[in-house]
Amino acid sequence: MKPETFERISTLVKSCSGIVLTKEKEYLLESRLEPVARRHGMNNIDDIAAALSRSAIGRLADDVVEAMTTNETFFFRDRTPFTHFSEVMLPYIKQARSNERKLRIWCAAASMGQEPYSLAMLLQEDASMRGWRREILGTDISVEALEKAKSGMYSQFEVQRGLPVNLLVKYFKQHGDVWQISPEIRSAVQYRQYNLLKPFTGFGKFDVVFCRNVLIYFDQQTKKDILERIAKQMNADSYLVLGAAETVIGLTDTFSPVPGKRGLFAVNAQASGQEPQRRAMTGTDGLQPRAPLAAGGSSRPAAPAATRAALSPAGARPGLNARPGGLRPKL
Ligand SMILES: C[S@@+](CC[C@H](N)C(=O)[O-])C[C@H]1O[C@@H](n2cnc3c(N)ncnc32)[C@H](O)[C@@H]1O
Repeated sequence: MKPETFERISTLVKSCSGIVLTKEKEYLLESRLEPVARRHGMNNIDDIAAALSRSAIGRLADDVVEAMTTNETFFFRDRTPFTHFSEVMLPYIKQARSNERKLRIWCAAASMGQEPYSLAMLLQEDASMRGWRREILGTDISVEALEKAKSGMYSQFEVQRGLPVNLLVKYFKQHGDVWQISPEIRSAVQYRQYNLLKPFTGFGKFDVVFCRNVLIYFDQQTKKDILERIAKQMNADSYLVLGAAETVIGLTDTFSPVPGKRGLFAVNAQASGQEPQRRAMTGTDGLQPRAPLAAGGSSRPAAPAATRAALSPAGARPGLNARPGGLRPKL
């Protein structure tokens, strides 16, 4: 690869998606862009760079950015965020929104759908959420990942990664090598292609935002900008969930870490320029204080039995053999 090739492609990828490609990622560029070059009738990546220097927009540029996204995900990834969802966020929301009975969740890097579907299954398992209006929006820059998410079809390998066996049996149907998620769970999630670098218009406000394992690809300024714009899309007493290697600390004061709950952050209503919802924040009228305000977490409501059961360890699953497939191979 010519030196200017790396320069041109990494500049394009950063300006279109925010993804920073450092020099040690050169191998990734080679392995992911060779197939793109072939698809476009080109000999190699240098040809791609030359074509992009003539025009940095269009199908080729889109395909390059698409190829450089990393869509790694799996059901109930890291488990803890989903335990926080059941044990911290949901009990609070059930009380705070008991009148309107409405919950809006945004998975801001939904990838192939495992994360929003995991949340949809938890909500479905929770009998006390019946009668609530629940909206889950999954967005991602990757068209291919979203196509798969919308299909709700997963390989045996994919359903073996993180999905408890009771939920697999209950919410999936096997068609040959493929497992398809049930219509009730599939229809609980709406997908939309969206680039986190773009202004968030027409999103409305959310109670919970999962933005996991995507900020790691961006530089500090981009992370800060995205976090601060996300805060504006959140209700004043809502929660943000980041990936295990991600934080707001040192980036922005629009969120505060929830003590003792790794990866969980509360919107700082004032810092994000929102009107604080005092009733919810102070715990008056018999309302539980939101977790960050609770001393030592002692007022944390207990997890509903249904969600505890849903996340109980699956143990061995006889008859399921690991076999990769269905996942776009990106090495
Ligand atoms: C590693 S996956 C994380 C998926 C899921 N949140 C999880 O933690 O399992 C990162 C996702 O971020 C998406 N992504 C990268 N840059 C993006 C951008 N600028 N806007 C929206 N999504 C982006 C990628 O397409 C990819 O699907």
